[in-house]
Amino acid sequence: MKKSSLAIALLLAPSMAFAWPWSQDMANQISTKPQEIAGPDQSAMKPFPQRSVPVAGTTVWVKDMDAARKMANPVAADEKSVAKGGRLFAIYCTPCHGQSGTGDGLVGAKLIMKPWNLTASNDMHTWNAKEYPDGYIWGYMTLGGAVMPTYANDLSATERWHVVNYVRKVLQKGQAGQATVQAK
Ligand code: HEC
Repeated sequence: MKKSSLAIALLLAPSMAFAWPWSQDMANQISTKPQEIAGPDQSAMKPFPQRSVPVAGTTVWVKDMDAARKMANPVAADEKSVAKGGRLFAIYCTPCHGQSGTGDGLVGAKLIMKPWNLTASNDMHTWNAKEYPDGYIWGYMTLGGAVMPTYANDLSATERWHVVNYVRKVLQKGQAGQATVQAK
């Protein structure tokens, strides 16, 4: 009997320790707590909207390739954009598509499905790479392909358009070597 009452007392002990008024003692001090305003005006800081999460940006997707094809390129293909695109292409695309964009990257060589040539026609299409709209290239990066991964998380929407501009202005004009040197 003594033993069991001791066990019950021990079981109750933690809940009692959190019961009023004990729980208030140590936590409630005059120090300023996270997200609390120092001073009397507690309305100075706006609360965050419900369920908000701090993130640097959002992933931009597109519904499908048909929708992507119709998208207009909002980024002018000026020198700056092409240079940015070149830097990103070097990081994200050359492993498979190669520096020239023809699909001769070292990683690509190991794939069962070879990366397609981005500069000319390829065996898989009846149409030439130069014929596809900017939105197609952007959409392929966004959604990925059968083997190709999606880059929607790695590259922002605008960064993807920079890469499109690089593919258009440099790779499809056969100037890969020159531009990679400039791009920085
Ligand atoms: C892991 C290897 C790999 C990487 C990295 C990669 N691709 Fe691909 N890509 C492929 C493969 C393989 C295909 C063939 C189609 C498929 O997988 O569905 C392809 C196809 C494409 C196509 C379609 C070409 C066509 O003729 O229809 C485009 C456009 C493309 N890639 C652009 C890019 C761009 C831009 C990047 C860099 C952001 C990139 N790829 C990175 C492997 C890759």
